[in-house]
Amino acid sequence: MIDLQIQSSLTDPSLLVDTAYINGQWCSAKDDATIDVINPSSKKIIATVPDLTVDQVRQAINDANTAWKTWKSSPATERATKLANWYQLMMDNQDDLARIMTLEQGKPLQESKGEITYAASFIKWFAEEARRINGETHPAPTSDRRLMTVKQPVGVCAAITPWNFPAAMITRKCAPAIAAGCTILVKPADLTPLSALALAVLADRAGIPAGVFNVVTGNAKSIGETFTSSEIIRKLTFTGSTKVGSLLMAQSAPTVKRLSLELGGNAPFIVFEDADIDEAVSGLMISKFRNAGQTCVCANRVLVHDKIYDRFTDSLVNAVRTLKVGDGFAENVTIGPLINENAVAKVRAHIEDSLQKGASIAYGEIPSGDDLFVTPTILRDVTTDMLPATEETFGPLAPLIRFHTDEEALKIANETPYGLGAYYYTQNLKRAWHVGENLEFGMIGLNSGVISMDSSPFGGIKLSGVGREGSNLGIEEYLEVKAWHIGSL
Ligand code: SIN
Repeated sequence: MIDLQIQSSLTDPSLLVDTAYINGQWCSAKDDATIDVINPSSKKIIATVPDLTVDQVRQAINDANTAWKTWKSSPATERATKLANWYQLMMDNQDDLARIMTLEQGKPLQESKGEITYAASFIKWFAEEARRINGETHPAPTSDRRLMTVKQPVGVCAAITPWNFPAAMITRKCAPAIAAGCTILVKPADLTPLSALALAVLADRAGIPAGVFNVVTGNAKSIGETFTSSEIIRKLTFTGSTKVGSLLMAQSAPTVKRLSLELGGNAPFIVFEDADIDEAVSGLMISKFRNAGQTCVCANRVLVHDKIYDRFTDSLVNAVRTLKVGDGFAENVTIGPLINENAVAKVRAHIEDSLQKGASIAYGEIPSGDDLFVTPTILRDVTTDMLPATEETFGPLAPLIRFHTDEEALKIANETPYGLGAYYYTQNLKRAWHVGENLEFGMIGLNSGVISMDSSPFGGIKLSGVGREGSNLGIEEYLEVKAWHIGSL
């Protein structure tokens, strides 16, 4: 089911579909079961998508395996061309794709357009990388031998993707898989399957053969179990919580799958006393409030040196005042709704816990309404025992923690089991090196609030996961290295 009024508001209504995409075919669930897709802004149902049966998902895996037998030996130029077509189609349909995203995810339309460009950039990047899958020759121990390595696709892959970036997390995983010669099944988040299905429409138009890219919608637990228990699926890639990531890791153990896991974070954002305060505030605004604070690399703990604490707080309050909360389609809105009630409750709990333990509100308020809109809020005098310091908030809350020395800042920053993103602002070269080398995170931004892009490896250490996406490394996750020994020469 699709809201027809919404469908007709698109330039190309055929991009909004309510059926799964398996082996080049559009299909409903065998038992006609469906899952509701809700607009978080209005809380109204905008569509339903199939809740596929286990048998249908198993059949999709078999079909992807059959498709792999041909795709794995397709020329690199063919894979590159088809990916480049897909990229172009995404850019040509950017406005419609953005509308679909704002409808199901809530982020402001301008931000959705930005995500479509970001998502498409991974397809372009890996279309180019497809032609650079190089092997090596190695010195052989004797003159009658030769030794070389070749790289080959790992096989059928599965991706489980999150609701916070309904398009970019799909392309960042699927484009390298397809470029490498793998086939892939995507299980999009139940909350945002429409963007995934729109991408499938375009993949089909781009000439990506049946079975190479598939979108299976339905129950997350059952599809996760079907993927992890399958002997055909050789690689699983997941973005989401550490709890679910470690469960998938355990479930994948019996079939010894390759894994890429991009899990939770608790990013510190450190502002040293010699920082350019205006730059630090701008960087924090991007890092903290992108997608209403619902990203794994959002600044979660803002550490500010005592000497500039008040000045920084005042500048930040002035910047946050300019944010406009509302429906993602309304003009000038910069903060859309949070994804659901649990997300709002978490922000509320973090503010309340901090206030009870002695923090105060520098700007904003405790969320109180029935809707999913949350005022961006700044807390001052936050200490390391308060909830925002120990847990990822995943909402528009900036807790300001005071520090006095570099070592204290580093200690607080690293005092987390997570290690995804970290940011720090300083003009001092010696400090910049020392802090950079000692931050225990997979990605660090020095005087930059932006650390996500096609050309940079994205991923974390510790409980934040394993593997890297994007960059020259992203495609390696989908390739096996075969050592080839030649004797008797
Ligand atoms: C994420 O939140 O999982 C991804 C964020 C990004 O790509 O910047």
